[in-house]
Amino acid sequence: MSDAPAQGRDFRFPDGFLWGAATAAHQIEGSPLADGAGPSIWTRFAHTPGMTLNGDTGDVACDHYRRWKQDVALMRELGLKAYRFSVSWSRIHPEGTGRVNQAGLDFYSRLVDELLENGIEPLLTLFHWDLPAALDDRGGWLNRDCADWFADYGTTLYRALDGRVKKWATINEPWVVTDGGYLHGALAPGHRSRYEAPIAAHNLMRAHGAAAQAYRAEGRHEMGLVVNIEPKYPAGDSPEDAAAVRRAHAYMNEQFLHPALLGRYPDELKDIFGDAWPEWPAEDFALIRQPLDFVGINYYTRSVTAAGDSYPQRTAVVRQPLGTYTETGWEVFPQGLTDLLLWFKDTYGDLPVYITENGAAFFDPPVAEGGRVRDPLRTDYLRKHLSAIHDAIAAGVDVRGYMAWSLLDNLEWSLGYSKRFGIVHVNYGTQERTPKDSARWYSKVIASNGRTLSDPLPY
Ligand code: BGC
Repeated sequence: MSDAPAQGRDFRFPDGFLWGAATAAHQIEGSPLADGAGPSIWTRFAHTPGMTLNGDTGDVACDHYRRWKQDVALMRELGLKAYRFSVSWSRIHPEGTGRVNQAGLDFYSRLVDELLENGIEPLLTLFHWDLPAALDDRGGWLNRDCADWFADYGTTLYRALDGRVKKWATINEPWVVTDGGYLHGALAPGHRSRYEAPIAAHNLMRAHGAAAQAYRAEGRHEMGLVVNIEPKYPAGDSPEDAAAVRRAHAYMNEQFLHPALLGRYPDELKDIFGDAWPEWPAEDFALIRQPLDFVGINYYTRSVTAAGDSYPQRTAVVRQPLGTYTETGWEVFPQGLTDLLLWFKDTYGDLPVYITENGAAFFDPPVAEGGRVRDPLRTDYLRKHLSAIHDAIAAGVDVRGYMAWSLLDNLEWSLGYSKRFGIVHVNYGTQERTPKDSARWYSKVIASNGRTLSDPLPY
């Protein structure tokens, strides 16, 4: 269906559909300790030998901390209507709590003003993985006080920016923070503990609830949560595969949306975590389940799932021999986006949704003379996924916007600079930005509100 966007189809999106691109502070800003900022766990992690590919760090990244004005000009040139970015908590509160570092706040205040002057709506995420190191020293997400720390940090930003910022999100992808950061250790803070992972996940959700609640006291606009959803499909017809799908889905997708929107965990988690799954105080769920104005969904891939031995969910991902895979080894599967949006509506009702990330790392050729980067696979990826979203909207899902991941090639966390997700190429030696063909193509889609999706690709 959505695999080949049909020519001649009317692809216009609803009026006011928010077309944009996304980034995250640690992945693009560089200068992590500038102007009085404290270190984050990511700066510390990347400076620990052996933790990132080639020892890559975010010390320079895309130098956006100094080139933000030029980057906003580029967004305008591309015709973006919105820009999703995150704030680095330890620029605002160098010790994680208490003292505010005005210079850090000023950076984001200037960025927001510049976006607004250029007609670009800011979507601000409070936390995209770069926890202040000072808070990690106090237990980080394992400390129940993190809910108060996070609400206080949010309040600092709401007071400074609400009104100029009208779309807020608390946390980006709590699943990745806990699975990567506390269970398997590939991401900061690099812990590997089956006992810690559910505690960190639960406290992240308590922090989400506390910051969303604090927003209602200070803010007047929209507040949401951003999750990554990976739909699970059974590898075969066996009851074992069906049960594996249930476990994988509960672990990765429902673990966060269920408490946030339904006030409970899916039953499977008790079985999945066994003796590492605590009894949670009932009152925690009242804190976690706050009224939200939207949910942000990040979608990259699906997984075809069988019973297996991955921990904790006891599944295996079955590679598809005829599938197309990206440079990060993720299957390209646009239909999964339609399917998950329909599942979301069926399960959680008519809450508005923004696709807050979607994109792909592919091998890009060098910048050609005349400043061209031919990236047909990325363009094709974006096109098919936009078509999949259009299908979901036609089926009644309230999707209000789309943020391509990413505006710029950037630091892919532990994988360093080895994977390029940008629609704009970044030369890390000179910091020159070159819009790839996919960016040029996306510009036209935005300008036509989707209509040009039905045009054949230009190559
Ligand atoms: C994250 C991004 C990351 C992207 C690609 C998402 O999980 O929010 O920070 O770069 O996926 O891996």
